[in-house]
Amino acid sequence: MARIELTDIRKVYAGGVEAVKGVSLSIDDGEFVVLVGPSGCGKSTLLRMVAGLESITSGTVRIGERVVNELEPAERDIAMVFQNYALYPHMSVRQNLEYGLKNRKMAMPEIARRVDEAAGILEIAPLLDRKPGQLSGGQRQRVAMGRAIVREPAAFLFDEPLSNLDAKLRVQMRAEIRRLQRRLATTSLYVTHDQLEAMTLADQLVVMNGGRIEQAGRPMDLYERPASLFVATFIGSPAMNLVPLDSTGGAGEGLAGLDGLPGAASEGVVLGIRPEHMRLVEAGREPGEFVADLTVTGVEVVGAESYVFGALAEKGPEIAVRVPGYSHLEPGTKVRAAGRLDAVHRFDSASGRRLD
Ligand SMILES: Nc1ncnc2c1ncn2[C@@H]1O[C@H](COP(=O)(O)OP(=O)(O)O)[C@@H](O)[C@H]1O
Ligand SMILES: [Mg+2]
Repeated sequence: MARIELTDIRKVYAGGVEAVKGVSLSIDDGEFVVLVGPSGCGKSTLLRMVAGLESITSGTVRIGERVVNELEPAERDIAMVFQNYALYPHMSVRQNLEYGLKNRKMAMPEIARRVDEAAGILEIAPLLDRKPGQLSGGQRQRVAMGRAIVREPAAFLFDEPLSNLDAKLRVQMRAEIRRLQRRLATTSLYVTHDQLEAMTLADQLVVMNGGRIEQAGRPMDLYERPASLFVATFIGSPAMNLVPLDSTGGAGEGLAGLDGLPGAASEGVVLGIRPEHMRLVEAGREPGEFVADLTVTGVEVVGAESYVFGALAEKGPEIAVRVPGYSHLEPGTKVRAAGRLDAVHRFDSASGRRLD
């Protein structure tokens, strides 16, 4: 096991694309770090530089005590799990698990011990004699994990390992990977574009955007105190509601009670509030609340709860409000929503940065 330390890592591809623009990141021994961000933001490039599959333009990668920039992938003591499993189709599960260890001329009894242990942990012992083609997607994913585990590496690297699975299996495997990582306590760097997967897996969540880190920290800290508009809207579903005060005539047309807000609600400020911090009200408001007059545009019924979407004022933004149970509101209905003032975030509209 080991710490991983990235210092000011950059990657410029031949042809000039700067995919990673100076990233520094520390991953503690045994920590599970998830890199999340939209497609093309440089996640895979960063991971591949740690793995040694891509050259590093500048900066240093340390795994344990060593700077590994110039080391071959095989010398870095890491194991990578990919989206497409990369299993050998003509080999049995057992042979797939043994393959990397045999290549390293490990003694047969040690290979057998590791394979049996991994098969036990992953509950794939009954599948050892099958070929990958005779396995379900989830079983293949488990074998791919097994191949990483038997190497007993200093760190696991995952690149969107669950993307090929259906929704139900993805949730199940997500929980399995988390349990497994806790049990093995192996330092892990995991890449995904799925913010929910990222939230549920990470000890430390790292949000990337355009080749840079937007924010890193514990998942709930990012959720509760997003450092930028980008993080505010990327983490959480439905996304945080945003009201740019410029577009609503400075004071916020359709809004009342913002004078109770700590910090100014004026032009150049974007207000943010999550759907669960708002509620539909008949009239009036409680102390500590503001109100928004909305025209319903649609309803999403999730099951135990619904989200009511409504337009603020004439040309204002759409606001989502979480309501319990099944909402029957028709589009066009006028409703009033109240939101907690202490749950309002303020951002600078020019820079997108959080104001307080
Ligand atoms: N081999 C390559 N050559 C040139 N550009 C690349 C190469 N691989 C990726 N890129 C570019 O680098 C950027 C980041 O890509 P990538 O790391 O794959 O993003 P992500 O994994 O977040 O979707 C993208 O603009 C992509 O087009
Ligand atoms: Mg990728």
